[in-house]
Amino acid sequence: MSSVLEVRITDAKMLTPVIRELTFVNPSGRLPGFSAGSHVQVHLPLGERNLRNAYSLTSDPADLHHYRIAVRLQDDSRGGSRFLHQQVQVGDSLRISPPANLFALHSAARQHILIAGGIGITPFLAYITALEQRNADFELHYAYRKGLTDAYTDELQQRLGTCLHGYDRSAGETLDLAAVLSARPLGSHVYVCGPERLLMGVKEQAKALGWPEGRVHWEAFSGAEPGLPFSLELARSRRRIQVSAEQSLLEALESAGVEIPNLCRGGVCGQCATRHLKGDIEHRDHVLSAAEQAEFLMPCVSRACGSSVLLDL
Ligand code: FES
Repeated sequence: MSSVLEVRITDAKMLTPVIRELTFVNPSGRLPGFSAGSHVQVHLPLGERNLRNAYSLTSDPADLHHYRIAVRLQDDSRGGSRFLHQQVQVGDSLRISPPANLFALHSAARQHILIAGGIGITPFLAYITALEQRNADFELHYAYRKGLTDAYTDELQQRLGTCLHGYDRSAGETLDLAAVLSARPLGSHVYVCGPERLLMGVKEQAKALGWPEGRVHWEAFSGAEPGLPFSLELARSRRRIQVSAEQSLLEALESAGVEIPNLCRGGVCGQCATRHLKGDIEHRDHVLSAAEQAEFLMPCVSRACGSSVLLDL
């Protein structure tokens, strides 16, 4: 299990009514190195619940004096984004897990096509810095709602000029994925981050146009969502643990002192796969096939359909 780092907030500002940017430093020295596309898990002390949410690092990977993240206030927040918007102030300390990268740039790509929806812009801020430093061929397609989710648009316009293609959804502007993905040079890679609908659209369009799977990269913003409470039985240790409506199965295990390897906490990395033995499951993950789901679940996002589930732990 990775170590935890205590950092101090040095800057906090609202970029839009729903997006807050936080900058933090390590008071005892430099921060660990990271590559473009990395995220950190931020530990969120919410009373008895200790949530951890993953946020992309938006700062320059070459500058380890500070890290920066941007947090979208979620309408259906379980408390994490609200805590980072309303409770955390400059000077406060936060605990984070060291950076991990599940959405890395492919250095051999001939052309990089970046597609962002709303807060999905965040991993691309570090990408752009890295791509500029390499003098790489890239373009950014950014769909947002003006006055709500249009963080960084002015800065990106100045920085990227014609390499930025903006689509203001509130003005009815649409991102034509077929046009964006057509007639690209061999060796192009496409990267997409944003809401599920955008991810699915890019994946389907790329498939229809014959893009090889290995050249289509995506990062989902899925995280644990609330549901009905249920109880968890652990077959090997013979323990019973309650999972509350606001808690993920992984968080309930952690609160009970049962540590499970994890990276994304959003059902995409596969690290937390755990065998289930009894009980119907609502899976909610993005990695397991139907055959694999019959045996495993992802405790970071999956929940029981009924009143209990038995795990091989
Ligand atoms: S932590 Fe990544 S799938 Fe659960």
